[in-house]
Amino acid sequence: METTLKETKNANLTILSHPLIKHNLTVMRDKTTTTEVFNLALKRITYALFYESTKFLPTEDIKVETPIKKTTSKIISKNIDIIVAPILRAGLVFSDIAQELLPFAHIHHLGMYRNEKTLEPIWYYNKMKGKFKNPENTYVFILDPMLATGNSGYDAVHNFVKQGIKEENIVFMSLISAPEGVERLSKAYGKIRIVTAQLDETLNEKGYIVPGLGDAGDRIFNTL
Ligand code: URA
Repeated sequence: METTLKETKNANLTILSHPLIKHNLTVMRDKTTTTEVFNLALKRITYALFYESTKFLPTEDIKVETPIKKTTSKIISKNIDIIVAPILRAGLVFSDIAQELLPFAHIHHLGMYRNEKTLEPIWYYNKMKGKFKNPENTYVFILDPMLATGNSGYDAVHNFVKQGIKEENIVFMSLISAPEGVERLSKAYGKIRIVTAQLDETLNEKGYIVPGLGDAGDRIFNTL
């Protein structure tokens, strides 16, 4: 069931490969898994996704005194802004851990749902006040557990690129990706980073990832 991307031009695609991630993903795929267990398995994978997604953030040295001696040690650079952008509603599932790991980040909710016929996104919420003071030094993490067609992902990336954020400072973080979605984003924005736990086979005619795990929002929020 492992898939390879034949044509992607994106050298910045990272697929996490780890037995614990695969194990938890299997738990999530199983249609008999309850919402409670589903969300627990997702939480376990989310930490790994965030550590991978944030590993290029710039750091700076500060002085610190340990119980043993004075030394210099690293912190995340104070000269950058970080924006975490969950795509509603499924992306919300990553928000708590985003705030835990990046407490200084600004959270910018991106409200979109997809037209079931055209599979194109329809925006209903995109508000953020004055957080782009420093676009050159702003880092954006777009969160969506499922990178399927890439249509909403494209809109989300475009929303930030048009405001002067550098492509290479944007990460699209997903749990499962379809090759179609990766290629759509990669063709449009070759320098963004895509971090995912799994690349699945394909999309079905309704735009769902195969084999995937079904509707992520429904499984996360128990609205099946
Ligand atoms: N969104 C989902 O929730 N699941 C898919 O498989 C594709 C898009």
